[in-house]
Amino acid sequence: QPVDAFDLVIFGGTGDLAVRKLLPALFHRFVDGQIPAGSRIIGIAREALDDDGYRASLRTALIEAGGAKGQVEEFLRHVSYRPLDARKDEGWDAFAALIGEEPDHVRVFYLSTSPELFVDICNRLGSYGLNRGKSRVVLEKPIGRDLASANQINDAVGRVFDESQTFRIDHYLGKETVQNLLALRFGNALFEPLWNSGHIDHVQITVAETLGVGRRGAYYDRAGALRDMVQNHILQLLCMVAMEPPSSLSPDAVRDEKLKVLRSLKPIDESNAAQLTVRGQYRAGAAEGQSVPGYLEELDGGKSNTETFVALKAEIENWRWAGVPFYLRTGKRLPERVSEIVVVFKAVPHSIFGASAGPLAQNRLVLRLQPDEGVKLWLTIKHPGPGGLRLRHVPLDMSFAEAFGVQQPDAYERLLLDVVRGNPTLFMRRDEVEAAWRWADPILAAWSASGEAPRPYTAGTWGPSAAVALIERDGRTWNEDSE
Ligand code: BG6
Repeated sequence: QPVDAFDLVIFGGTGDLAVRKLLPALFHRFVDGQIPAGSRIIGIAREALDDDGYRASLRTALIEAGGAKGQVEEFLRHVSYRPLDARKDEGWDAFAALIGEEPDHVRVFYLSTSPELFVDICNRLGSYGLNRGKSRVVLEKPIGRDLASANQINDAVGRVFDESQTFRIDHYLGKETVQNLLALRFGNALFEPLWNSGHIDHVQITVAETLGVGRRGAYYDRAGALRDMVQNHILQLLCMVAMEPPSSLSPDAVRDEKLKVLRSLKPIDESNAAQLTVRGQYRAGAAEGQSVPGYLEELDGGKSNTETFVALKAEIENWRWAGVPFYLRTGKRLPERVSEIVVVFKAVPHSIFGASAGPLAQNRLVLRLQPDEGVKLWLTIKHPGPGGLRLRHVPLDMSFAEAFGVQQPDAYERLLLDVVRGNPTLFMRRDEVEAAWRWADPILAAWSASGEAPRPYTAGTWGPSAAVALIERDGRTWNEDSE
């Protein structure tokens, strides 16, 4: 649905996220005709750049994102730059005047900076009255580094922007397959009756990356995999799998249900963290055929106990999911980039086939978030041919790209336009962020109390062997997608 001309201001406009993700996403929306004439995209950072300098710094990323030269130039006419420091007065008057030139525009202030700056920026915006009217603020994750700091940020932002103006982004919710999970679960009569502990054996969620921390070491070393990926992205995926059917797709109906899941997570603390969690840190190894340095070398040989890998066994203590483990894992420098949700159904109660037919595998529903977005449902069928009845496990396989012949849009494309439209369904409400920290904090506390270093793993492997033991101990294995 079309939007009116708007202003989008990106604080942290020269940062990695803005250059690699936000601007290319806006560019793709522009190419699709969804950025109306008169819209303004304003990058903000401390660097002393002018409009042309900023545009020049974006050109390569936009061309790499598939842009034709002419289109890139047209798009860049919407883009300008203002050097500003949230902690200094200089430039703010002129910036406020610039925004004031278009009083009827929806204005989106996207805070793609470190969370320590959120409060200063919001206070400035408030003191210039830029929080009024059709203003919205977008907060990038992680919001804080624990419950206490998240509360401080949310309180301070809340003094300037109303909750209805506040969009806490988790870009995993904008991924096509995640939204498809809603369609699959609630648009088909087939799955919901089986979607519970009576029929589901366990669920796995894997978010594996081949990249290391690269230039983001300063941020990452203070965060680690639990704060960077699990507290937000992976828990949001878990909520989408586990929530009760919302009464509608209205923002609060969906978010109320997700919140209930977060509040039902079984606590992991000092008493059980050693059994239920595994932390790892990569050492030198290989990624995509190239040798790569270890995490500590990337930090300039510094010392660090930060985890770049985590695997854990979560449980949801409610009627639907009692006794169904959710095995979660994520890491940097793993052998392939793959994100998937695997729902493993229970075995048939009795086999009529006899040993010669081969093993009877459990049905599995694999939702692939990336790459090659799609859905696979693994079924048991008869091996074709006149011989005896032999069983095979094969997937009903739907690749979205093949089925629809279109490139899947990047998650940010959907979400940025949702902010402009004012639709918060796919954004985190304050209470969700808090509930997620309430679960994550005791895990972090247990790790720091144990004083144990993360287990080393070689770059290019699936993390420490303890992560395999975590699931194999329960007689299960991580999904390998072939049998
Ligand atoms: C970000 C994390 O939120 O998500 C990064 O901070 C991570 O560390 C990234 O690399 C992964 O996103 P995607 O969309 O590439 O899976």
